[in-house]
Amino acid sequence: MKELGNGKPSNKALLEWIEEQIELCQPDAVYWLDGSDEEDLELKRIAVEQGVLIPLNQEKRPGCYYHRSNPNDVARVENLTFICTPGEEEVGPTNNWAPPEEMYAKLRNLASGCMKGRTMYVAPYLMGPLGSDLSMVGVELTDSVYVALNMRIMSRMGKVALEHLGDSDHFNKGLHSTLDLSPDRRFICHFPQDNTIISLGSGYGGNVLLGKKCLGLRIASYLGRREGWMAEHMLILGVESPEGEKTYVAAAFPSACGKTNFAMLIPPAKYKGWKIWTVGDDISWMKPGSDGRLYAINPEAGYFGVAPGTNYKSNPNAMKTIQKDTIFTNVALTPDGDVWWEGMDDPAPQGTIDWKGNPWSPESGEKAAHPNSRFTAPMANNPDLAPEVNDPEGVPISAIIFGGRRATTIPLVFQAFNWIHGVFIGATVGSEMTAAAVGGMGQVRRDPMAMLPFCGYDMGDYFAHWLSMRHKIQFPPRIFHVNWFRKDEEGKFIWPGYGENMRVLKWIIDRCRGRSNAHETPLGWIPDSADFDLEGLQGFTRDQFDELQNIDLQAWKKEVISQDELFMKLYPHLPKEMIFQRELLISRL
Ligand code: OXD
Ligand code: MN
Repeated sequence: MKELGNGKPSNKALLEWIEEQIELCQPDAVYWLDGSDEEDLELKRIAVEQGVLIPLNQEKRPGCYYHRSNPNDVARVENLTFICTPGEEEVGPTNNWAPPEEMYAKLRNLASGCMKGRTMYVAPYLMGPLGSDLSMVGVELTDSVYVALNMRIMSRMGKVALEHLGDSDHFNKGLHSTLDLSPDRRFICHFPQDNTIISLGSGYGGNVLLGKKCLGLRIASYLGRREGWMAEHMLILGVESPEGEKTYVAAAFPSACGKTNFAMLIPPAKYKGWKIWTVGDDISWMKPGSDGRLYAINPEAGYFGVAPGTNYKSNPNAMKTIQKDTIFTNVALTPDGDVWWEGMDDPAPQGTIDWKGNPWSPESGEKAAHPNSRFTAPMANNPDLAPEVNDPEGVPISAIIFGGRRATTIPLVFQAFNWIHGVFIGATVGSEMTAAAVGGMGQVRRDPMAMLPFCGYDMGDYFAHWLSMRHKIQFPPRIFHVNWFRKDEEGKFIWPGYGENMRVLKWIIDRCRGRSNAHETPLGWIPDSADFDLEGLQGFTRDQFDELQNIDLQAWKKEVISQDELFMKLYPHLPKEMIFQRELLISRL
């Protein structure tokens, strides 16, 4: 067996485990990744040679490459995602469960000899800043050079991870093989007791970039509960006032509901001197600090963002971020070697090729880019990256914001009465399903804390963990709910969104700092109309604001009934506080 690369670890436990996996998968070569720039060039050369990546126009987009995935493999597969624990009860009714021994046997069988004729890339990666006690090391063994290149962007990969690990045996063991990409041999399996992930038969990011959803959320949420911290599907941003006051918030929205846009928000002209700093756009690991506040880190080092809808109006900083050193997956390709997607600033040029590799025209009635097409870009490219992103302590969180994509019923913004009520609000988040997961597009599903597909244990126990965290945090963040997506009778979005969401953020920050007024409603605290800044918002009236904030009691009664479906499902482990909160809401309504 050939050995390549300069990143061979010396950690004994790690080497032993890798030896076993080599024996199982029987690769022709092992490539020990070190994370260097030379290695990056070499991997890209290999990927281009294999036809896995196509170089884009290097003048327009230096260091950028294009990838098309198998059309059967374009989103997370929740039905093929398993949590394998000794007892079924532990994973609860919202996860797929399998007994570990049985699943290990099945996966070993599938993986046996799966890398014959292939190279195994060994990718040690660090989730979180070097030296942070919230950070964690994982090692992904993969036969996909595309995955190795993506992991390099999404995590701190190579020697830095080995340095953080030292001679400890506390690392996540991840094995990935694309096999033959056949959907009936596709399994994304987590073994939280063993800190192990095995992902077979897929090449799609959310299924195979193991640091992200698998370790970053499913395994991390499991460990967080055991160890007294939180792993959440949340962006983190910092708001800086003209006076230099910085306030950090974390926000959980379901997949493809605009977390990346919100995390990179640029305040409108009216907010002169205000600035938003991006800490993270997808995952937040949070732990109480010694000063009694809740501190958060972004464990990732890049953005795996949804491309369609990203443009210079919706997200100028993302457009700048993806200008270089970015991998584009399943977008459309233009004749001059650039990328295009629905919702880009300019129309597609003639001769555009769609994500499946076919000539495309607007008349075809098909999408040129897959609705879940993505860019993988280093966070270092973001012009407004928060310098604190590398701070091992993380940032103190003043507000937690929940949100979903809802055309009706849910106001633009309201604030929870307290932590327990906030947990209830998070637990009842509903959102219209998007293309980030296979199936169910457009239907409202309950997605508690946006964690439904990512919680590594029983969701009822997860709510209990949230409630118990209150005892560990002396100064808990205030909790809010937002909905940018409410529509009018003609089906048009009422709120302009994007940069204008700064107005909502400003009210939230002011609430946290005791500077703005609100009034009590059945749902929670709502901004006084006069206290919410609409100045300079062209063509938007107070009446429209009132429509956005309207609480339709009949619709809310239906909403409460529809919330109950999930609670019934979770009933065996549902904390009583959730039932009391529900009763209180009903009586207020
Ligand atoms: C993601 C997702 O890719 O949530 O971040 O699906
Ligand atoms: Mn996500």
